[in-house]
Amino acid sequence: MTEFLETGESSLKGLNQARQWLAHTERLAVLTGAGISAESGVPTFRDGGTAFWSQFKPEDMASEKGFRRDPALVWRWYQYRRELIAAVQPNAAHLALASWAGQHPGRMTLITQNVDGLHERAGSPGVLNLHGELMKNRWLERGCGRCSMEEVVGAEPPRCAHCGNLLRPAVVWFGEALSPVVWNAAESAANTCELMLVVGTSGAVYPAAGLALRAKRNGAKVVIINPQPSELDEVGDVLLRGPAAMLLPALLAA
Ligand code: OAD
Repeated sequence: MTEFLETGESSLKGLNQARQWLAHTERLAVLTGAGISAESGVPTFRDGGTAFWSQFKPEDMASEKGFRRDPALVWRWYQYRRELIAAVQPNAAHLALASWAGQHPGRMTLITQNVDGLHERAGSPGVLNLHGELMKNRWLERGCGRCSMEEVVGAEPPRCAHCGNLLRPAVVWFGEALSPVVWNAAESAANTCELMLVVGTSGAVYPAAGLALRAKRNGAKVVIINPQPSELDEVGDVLLRGPAAMLLPALLAA
């Protein structure tokens, strides 16, 4: 709240400009990151002492190598995050996006780097989950042909009762490829949108962050919503410095 009021005039000007672009936009793309879930109580990865990567090394907790080295440790960390996410609710930013999409069918493509499922829980349709879904699992190896999630033994992590194949979270770890189907849809939205909102991301992780550059290159206006500077600020036509749960409802209100 304070940031927004303190920077009063310029922020209001930016907000009004963004509102005007939005009113004339047939194809809107939205790229979200951990910051959009911060006000729900989900820690981000990089900003401040509570951020995950200030407590853990990404290569330990978010890589296949790290998982193979210590599957129990990594599994426990994901179980902890699952419990955390099950206990929180979508906030006003998630809800504002879902509501706008409902009022303007077919005009918004929502692309997220988040794995928390809060956009879906807010009611957003067709979310492009670039980095997978925390609440789902998949197999580490191709498996024995009889691997079934209904037939597992053990707990941290559960294993196939027949061959011992390990379950792992269905998220994209560092060094892994994004789903081509999801990525192609995201790229195509970035290529064709007239306006892209970049919400709550540091812009530090590629290829996701490259979508904002791509949108800009293809002639879209880019609006950045973040209380802090981000690595994508230089492509922003308007920078709205403030929390997403306040600014997105203000921008998307009918
Ligand atoms: P980061 O933790 O890197 O960045 C979070 C951003 O949110 C920062 O720029 C904050 O300033 C901003 N922020 C904090 N509170 C906010 C609020 N209330 N409203 C708006 N913005 C706010 O998170 P991501 O950019 O999402 O990948 O990180 C990208 C990827 O790196 C993640 O998907 C994850 C991580 O490693 C994987 O795990 C593969």
